[in-house]
Amino acid sequence: MVKSVEDILKKEFGKSLSDENVHILDPFVGTGNFMVHIIDEIKKTSLERKYANELHCNEVMLLPYYIASMNIEHEYFEKVGRYEPFEGICLVDTFDMAEQAQTSLGFMTEENTARIERQKKSPITVVIGNPPYNVGQLNENDNNKNRKYKVMDKRVAETYAKDSKATNKNALSDPYVKAIRWATDRIKDEGIVALVTNGSFIDSIAFDGMRANLEKDFDAIYVLDLGSDVRRNPKLSGTTHNVFGIQVGVSVNIFVKKGGTVAEARTK
Ligand SMILES: C[S@@+](CC[C@H](N)C(=O)[O-])C[C@H]1O[C@@H](n2cnc3c(N)ncnc32)[C@H](O)[C@@H]1O
Repeated sequence: MVKSVEDILKKEFGKSLSDENVHILDPFVGTGNFMVHIIDEIKKTSLERKYANELHCNEVMLLPYYIASMNIEHEYFEKVGRYEPFEGICLVDTFDMAEQAQTSLGFMTEENTARIERQKKSPITVVIGNPPYNVGQLNENDNNKNRKYKVMDKRVAETYAKDSKATNKNALSDPYVKAIRWATDRIKDEGIVALVTNGSFIDSIAFDGMRANLEKDFDAIYVLDLGSDVRRNPKLSGTTHNVFGIQVGVSVNIFVKKGGTVAEARTK
């Protein structure tokens, strides 16, 4: 995934993940796999700057937050031979970052609040990660799944839901849908959204409006549909045919927004 993002960044923008001002964000970092792979991919000569200023990630749960911090710091140590605390990680609910007032997680420190403010001001070029998902979920990795988010729920309603002809749009309340909406808005006019998600948006009825919006929002869309939805294909036994050992289908999605004149033409 990280290598594909590097290739697409090169092809579409003539840039590299190692380049200055290419800010990279994993909004659902878990224990930090994507960040570790990114550190691995970045040129040694760029790593110090990147690590200090241009790598960002968020996690809402305390335990994975600590594990991600340790994994990322350890990977940096392996690469440069010295320990440096990683200040690009925030303990925060990513969807809350779009709200006027953030919900306190109960253990917010001044330092964490400052990190959140710093991330908000950073021009993000690449959003990468795998967001939580709800519908048909077996793996309870998201303890926030029924939370309402005023701003993000409205963004989904006024775009993906509004443009849908489906009568039942419940599937649009899945957090992976909100995550795609959030990431699309977060990169503004230009950048890459690379998310591994539930693949139901590819052809399910309720996602017709989402598909129409993705077409409008992006200039290039790469989707690798891994299939493996057990409910659609009961011949797949249990969860053994799925890369994540889950029952829902999975897809690897890379969406590209090219900004500039393309963005202007899109709004006309
Ligand atoms: C599917 S896992 C990501 C796994 C990750 N790629 C890794 O390397 O471990 C999703 C993660 O997002 C976190 N999460 C869920 N909702 C979130 C939110 N609204 N804001 C930030 N993190 C969230 C979960 O706690 C979980 O650790």
